[in-house]
Amino acid sequence: MACKIIAVASQKGGVGKTTTAVSLAAALNRMGIRTLLVDFDPQSNATGNFGVSRRAIRADVRAVILREAAAADAVVKTPYGDVLPATIDLVGAEIALVGEEARELRLREALEPLRGDYDVILIDCAPSLGLLMVNGLCAADGVLIPIQCEYLALEGLSLTIDTMRNVRKRLNPGLELTGLLFTMYDGRTNLSGQVAREVKRHFADKIFKTVIPRNVRLSEAPSHGMPVQYYDRSSKGARSYDELAQEFILRLRLMPRARQNGKDGAGNG
Ligand SMILES: Nc1ncnc2c1ncn2[C@@H]1O[C@H](COP(=O)(O)OP(=O)(O)OP(=O)(O)O)[C@@H](O)[C@H]1O
Ligand SMILES: [Mg+2]
Repeated sequence: MACKIIAVASQKGGVGKTTTAVSLAAALNRMGIRTLLVDFDPQSNATGNFGVSRRAIRADVRAVILREAAAADAVVKTPYGDVLPATIDLVGAEIALVGEEARELRLREALEPLRGDYDVILIDCAPSLGLLMVNGLCAADGVLIPIQCEYLALEGLSLTIDTMRNVRKRLNPGLELTGLLFTMYDGRTNLSGQVAREVKRHFADKIFKTVIPRNVRLSEAPSHGMPVQYYDRSSKGARSYDELAQEFILRLRLMPRARQNGKDGAGNG
């Protein structure tokens, strides 16, 4: 089965990109889908959320895209799955790459040798439209865009879609829109419902049926250095990301290899 590389991206900050990348990666791994989480944000929240401390990092994703280290040597194994870690040093990468040839394609080039080792590679992108995001989109086969159902959500969405279209035109013609995911949904507010309806009018077939509710366990898990499924397995947050993983598996036609845990049905249809 061919590896699928999916960028979790949005130009808008704080919409749940990292929470989605981390929780989806952990869920997929539990379901027997070999998943690599790539932290491609200098804030390095995904790295911390997988419990990886600075000491455990031999080489970070910055060293990898600057061709100082091979991606396989930088990967850290954790109880939740493999992660290609980032550090704050990634901030300087955009400048270090100025004037370099094919600088948009560095992450793509770096991940290519790993395709044989994983079924899915999830890239947690930084919230900007700069060279890092373009590298993330060039490395990907598809993009998953989280949408927080709040004021200005649609503006953020259209900027991200414009960037995708540009990348598709110039650099990565095969790039697909994997799906749109409603995050931090609060059914009690009118606004959440309004935004969701508006997005549905434009992108009906691309929206994941799974909706991620606002759930305090999701915001607590990072400070414990673990994905929500390990922090509070029975929380609404954990269960909604498990449901997303099942939908993701069907949408991408992934095949679970072996189940690590008998209770984690990966869904056969
Ligand atoms: N469904 C949720 N319920 C409650 N809190 C959430 C939920 N999803 C995310 N959060 C919290 O909201 C904040 C922003 O989420 P997150 O870091 O995932 O967004 P992001 O898009 O990656 O942000 P950035 O653009 O800075 O990278 C975090 O504190 C996170 O713990
Ligand atoms: Mg983030």
